[in-house]
Amino acid sequence: MSRITILILVQILFLTLALSTTGQLQLNFAGGKCRANDTITTNSTYHTNILTLLTDLHSLSTVNLFFISSAGATADRVNGFYLCRPDLPLTNCEACINATIDLLNENCFDKKSAIAWYYECMIQYSNSSLAPSDANATDPWTYWYGTLNVSQPEIFPALLNNTIQTLISDAISSDNERRLFAYGKTNFTDFETLYAMVLCRPDITAQDCESCLTIALDRIPTCCVGFSSWTIIFMPSCQLRYDTAPFIFSIEPTELLLAPSSPPSLAPAPAPGG
Ligand SMILES: *[C@@H]1O[C@H](CO)[C@@H](O)[C@H](O)[C@H]1NC(C)=O
Ligand SMILES: *[C@@H]1O[C@H](CO)[C@@H](O)[C@H](O)[C@H]1NC(C)=O
Ligand SMILES: *[C@@H]1O[C@H](CO)[C@@H](O)[C@H](O)[C@H]1NC(C)=O
Ligand SMILES: *[C@@H]1O[C@H](CO)[C@@H](O)[C@H](O)[C@H]1NC(C)=O
Ligand SMILES: *[C@@H]1O[C@H](CO)[C@@H](O)[C@H](O)[C@H]1NC(C)=O
Ligand SMILES: *[C@@H]1O[C@H](CO)[C@@H](O)[C@H](O)[C@H]1NC(C)=O
Ligand SMILES: *[C@@H]1O[C@H](CO)[C@@H](O)[C@H](O)[C@H]1NC(C)=O
Ligand SMILES: *[C@@H]1O[C@H](CO)[C@@H](O)[C@H](O)[C@H]1NC(C)=O
Repeated sequence: MSRITILILVQILFLTLALSTTGQLQLNFAGGKCRANDTITTNSTYHTNILTLLTDLHSLSTVNLFFISSAGATADRVNGFYLCRPDLPLTNCEACINATIDLLNENCFDKKSAIAWYYECMIQYSNSSLAPSDANATDPWTYWYGTLNVSQPEIFPALLNNTIQTLISDAISSDNERRLFAYGKTNFTDFETLYAMVLCRPDITAQDCESCLTIALDRIPTCCVGFSSWTIIFMPSCQLRYDTAPFIFSIEPTELLLAPSSPPSLAPAPAPGG
């Protein structure tokens, strides 16, 4: 797979879902990577700067859902940011950042650059600038999908495409009060509803958000089944998720008005109302 050849990265622990429980919210670990070759020594200036940066990000997570910062100077400077899902209360954001930092300290303590995602939050740090114009928006990345499939796999991809395109437009619209985030639902069959979410780092441009999410959408048929009952794609600058069950913690999904699309060629649409 191209992401492995393009980026020489080690995968850290991957298998455990539901690592810890904090209050009402269960945190779900999604994946992480540390850059394999850029090794550092414990207690070096760079290592100390990572710990300083992570401590700063942790304290900021009690007041902000997103923050980008840095620690140290010149060759020992480390840059990093965290992002929490915008539907989470700040107490859950802090708990998720706490868990992510513990995980990074345990698994990436000897590496210059790392990224880790929970379903609820993410952290990335690197010696290279993670400013929006310099960061790699789409790599590394990871994904999960369900083993069950939707009832009508032939017509689902077109609906998914249409739904995500609509959500992207909503997310990047200047009217959107939650910048670069949208969550919506649409009817699929009589007994299945499609829920979907798109989210970008809030400091990137609308155009970069759109192109990041478009790449995420394009990856679904090859990384994942394409018509699984749920899929989530995590990238450094954006994430995309859909499910036939609702999944957002504290925001109601918007009922989406989809643009008309050409009818599917393989199967007739389900009869309305029946
Ligand atoms: C990383 O280290 C391995 C083993 O030492 C080496 O084969 C590889 O070329 C290195 N990759 C980079 C990008 O430096
Ligand atoms: C790093 O510093 C801590 C605190 O000063 C010390 O306990 C630890 O032994 C040091 N580790 C190494 C590998 O030097
Ligand atoms: C996260 O919370 C646990 C339990 O309160 C604590 O032991 C740990 O040190 C915290 N981690 C960080 C990075 O603050
Ligand atoms: C980051 O570290 C790597 C490996 O040590 C080095 O090749 C690269 O030039 C550094 N990047 C910056 C922006 O300093
Ligand atoms: C960023 O990701 C793109 C898309 O995979 C890749 O082609 C490019 O080489 C990456 N850039 C860096 C600096 O890693
Ligand atoms: C879902 O579809 C994929 C791809 O066709 C197939 O491999 C998998 O077995 C299906 N899952 C179920 C539970 O039928
Ligand atoms: C996805 O939707 C966009 C915009 O509605 C359309 O231009 C594109 O052709 C669609 N792609 C697929 C694979 O259906
Ligand atoms: C979706 O289905 C529900 C329940 O059948 C119905 O009340 C609602 O009007 C439908 N929405 C759209 C946009 O078709």
